[in-house]
Amino acid sequence: MFQTKAQALAASFLAFMLSLPGSGAIKADHVAMYDIFAQTQKPSGDCMYEFDGDEQFYVDLDREETVWGLREFSTVYSFEAQGALSYILSLKDNLRALLQRHNITRVPSEPPEVTVFPKNPVELGQPNILICHVDRFFPPMLNVTWLRNGHRVTEGTSETVFLPSTELRFQKFHYLTFIPTAEDVYNCRVEHWGLGQPSLGHWEMPETLQVTETMENVVCALGLLVALVGIVIGGVLIAGALRPDQDPLPGVPGTPVSDCAGDEVHACCAERRERSRR
Ligand SMILES: *[C@@H]1O[C@H](CO)[C@@H](O)[C@H](O)[C@H]1NC(C)=O
Ligand SMILES: *[C@@H]1O[C@H](CO)[C@@H](O)[C@H](O)[C@H]1NC(C)=O
Repeated sequence: MFQTKAQALAASFLAFMLSLPGSGAIKADHVAMYDIFAQTQKPSGDCMYEFDGDEQFYVDLDREETVWGLREFSTVYSFEAQGALSYILSLKDNLRALLQRHNITRVPSEPPEVTVFPKNPVELGQPNILICHVDRFFPPMLNVTWLRNGHRVTEGTSETVFLPSTELRFQKFHYLTFIPTAEDVYNCRVEHWGLGQPSLGHWEMPETLQVTETMENVVCALGLLVALVGIVIGGVLIAGALRPDQDPLPGVPGTPVSDCAGDEVHACCAERRERSRR
C-alpha cells in the first residue's frame, strides 16, 4: 500500500538573461524557463518552455511535434521535438532504475487551488471565454471537467499542458467558450490525489452586472424622456420667440442646446439597442 504509485522527476532550470545596467547590481530582465518531466502515471511526460511567464512552446509527445504558443519565436529559432522525446525517454529509464534499486515512498500530494474567471469583461449575450486556473499542485495529474448547470460540457473546451508554478509544483489552464446568460451557472470540477473530494471552481453572472444592465436601460429611457421634454419646451420657446406680435424673450438661450443634447441621448440609446441586439 505504501509502495510507490508515482514519482515524478522534474528537471527544470532557469536561464537568466542578465544585464548590467550602469555600474550597479546585476538585475534579471527576462527569464526563460525550461520544464521537462517523466512520471509513472498519465501523462508520462511533458516538455515545455516559457519566456517571461508566457508559454513559448511545448512538445506534443504523441504527435512528436513542437507546438508554438508564442509564434514570434518560431521565426527566430526552431526546436527539434525529437530532442525532447529522447530526453524524456532517458528520464524514464532513470526513473525505472531508481524505482528498482531503492525503496521509495510516495511524495505527499499537494492539492490544487482552483479559480474560475472570464477572459473578457462580461456582457449578457456577448461570447466570452471562461478560464479555469488550477494552480500549485503536485504531482502533475488532473481530471478536469466543465459543468453547465450541473451537466458536463465538452464542446468549446481547450487546455494547456502542465506548466511550472512555484516551488516545483504545477499549474494548468482550462478554457470554455460560452455566451453569458443571467441563468446559467458554471463549474470547473477538478480531481487530484491531494483532494479528498473534487474541488469545484464556480462562476455565474454577477448580480451587480445584471442590475447594472437594467439600470443602464432606465437611465437611457430617462435621458430620452428629458431630451423629448427639452425639444418640446425648446419648440414652444422658438414658436414664442418667432411670433411677430411679441417681443423676443430676453436671455433665453438658443434652442440648439436642447436639440443637441437630445441627439446625443438618441445616439446613446441607439448604440445600447444595437449592443443588446447582438
Ligand atoms: C520498504 O519500505 C516499507 C515501508 O516503509 C517497509 O515496510 C519495507 O520493509 C521496506 N522494504 C525494504 C526492502 O527495505
Ligand atoms: C482521473 O479519472 C480516472 C478515471 O476515472 C481515475 O482512474 C484517476 O484516478 C483520476 N485521476 C485523478 C488525479 O483523480
